[in-house]
Amino acid sequence: MPEPWWKSAVVYQIYPRSFADANGDGVGDLEGIRRHLDHLVWLGVDALWLSPFYRSPMADFGYDVADYCDVDPLFGTLEDFDRLVADAHQRGLKVLVDWVPNHSSDRHAWFEDARASRESDKRDWYVWVDGTPDAPPNNWKAAFSQVDPAWTWDEATGQWYLHLFLPEQPDLNWRNPAVVDAMHDTLRFCLDRGVDGFRMDVVHALVKREGFPDVDDPWLSTDRLDEHATHERIRGFRRLLDSYPGDRTSVGEVFILSTAKVAEYYGRGDELHMVFNFPPLYAKWEAAAWRKRIDRVVEEFDPIGAWPTWVLSNHDNPRHAGRYGTEGRARAAAVLLLTLRGTPFLYQGEELGLTDAVIPPERVVDPGGRDGTRAPIPWTGTPDHGWGPAEPWLPWPPDAETRNAESERVDPSSVLHLYRRLLAARHGSPALQLGTWAPRPSADGALAYERTLGDDRRAVVVNFTEAPVEMPVEGEWTIEVASDGAGEGDPYRGALGPDQALVLRPRF
Ligand code: GLC
Repeated sequence: MPEPWWKSAVVYQIYPRSFADANGDGVGDLEGIRRHLDHLVWLGVDALWLSPFYRSPMADFGYDVADYCDVDPLFGTLEDFDRLVADAHQRGLKVLVDWVPNHSSDRHAWFEDARASRESDKRDWYVWVDGTPDAPPNNWKAAFSQVDPAWTWDEATGQWYLHLFLPEQPDLNWRNPAVVDAMHDTLRFCLDRGVDGFRMDVVHALVKREGFPDVDDPWLSTDRLDEHATHERIRGFRRLLDSYPGDRTSVGEVFILSTAKVAEYYGRGDELHMVFNFPPLYAKWEAAAWRKRIDRVVEEFDPIGAWPTWVLSNHDNPRHAGRYGTEGRARAAAVLLLTLRGTPFLYQGEELGLTDAVIPPERVVDPGGRDGTRAPIPWTGTPDHGWGPAEPWLPWPPDAETRNAESERVDPSSVLHLYRRLLAARHGSPALQLGTWAPRPSADGALAYERTLGDDRRAVVVNFTEAPVEMPVEGEWTIEVASDGAGEGDPYRGALGPDQALVLRPRF
């Protein structure tokens, strides 16, 4: 049986507010995405993951959903969405949408109804607890502030409601079968419109521990969660996805910094198709740290047949080009990201080598401090960077006059062209897409490994340091892609320059 498409795919995350603006209001929109599909095809990605574009009061910029079955007017209309999916499919691009099941907006009709009275038949769709206004029910803290309680007192009806995130994001009660049914309907709504899968937001946190006990680590602890019941709910999502034709897929945001725990969310092939594993994202740019993270994935995932994912940047974390500190390292990291075993997730703008925007205090909008990574994508070198007359909702990232899609496209030595060559190399190599991963003897501060599938082989060598290293790899190899573009097509002579990473193909 051929492997499903999502194993060999490279997924490109689009944060719609910041990708491209078609109507000139300073906020990106669905039509803006549609108009740039050809660029993404030129780049060579296989699938798009769209961060939320649903109706939302935007307390958490769309991760507070007021209607799971409609598009926020800021982003366009359902017709725009259908057109985007159709045009993406026509170009061979799959489309994943973000699904936010843990909480809705406090302006969702369900919560407005629930909040109206204790007798509302939607009351039990959310998590309400008796008490007095002076003392929240337990010590759980809300995610962004880490000090505010995860509970808000509702004056009118005299109970506390739970929100692991903002007060504007009340947690749904996943113990209530009516919630399960209603949320399954929201999945069906998207599946029926032809989406190829979902990125599932904080999906490990759906069901909370009975009795809501105090915990030691009150804002992150999994002790707050009923994992057993959550796994059961996830199996329900999987059954629903599997009932549709065409290998619909799921990738779960399981924000638990333990690769062993992350592995559990693949179930026995009956839970999530893929799960984000964040420990590598938080690892330093050091060979030993990365080797350890890779080994943990191999140890935990291989025995259960779980397909790994790799990600360096997203809308919640500072971009890796900034974290690692230099463009040379960011280039080497791109080689690593796109040659490990598993599905890589790119975040819009990393292919331009972007770093985070500097946000002056008066322009801060995100309660979670994540504005810098969400800066608008510069498409051109002109002052409006292809966005039109309105000031965009966030400042531009650094060096946008030169670090923009148009300028980098005409410069073969750009980061953009490196990503394009790496994506082409992946497409040309079954070993890179689906092959085994095996470490090879590595110099200090560097990493060598081989990918193999049948007759197809590639070797990858990555220098994590600023000093040159000697690192012969058994066999005779040609440099297929070099992070700095140097020597492509030449024989590999067993040495790497500072910060250099190479994809090697057998010479004969
Ligand atoms: C996830 C999202 C993040 C959002 C949060 C609450 O962590 O990635 O952006 O704020 O969930 O929905």
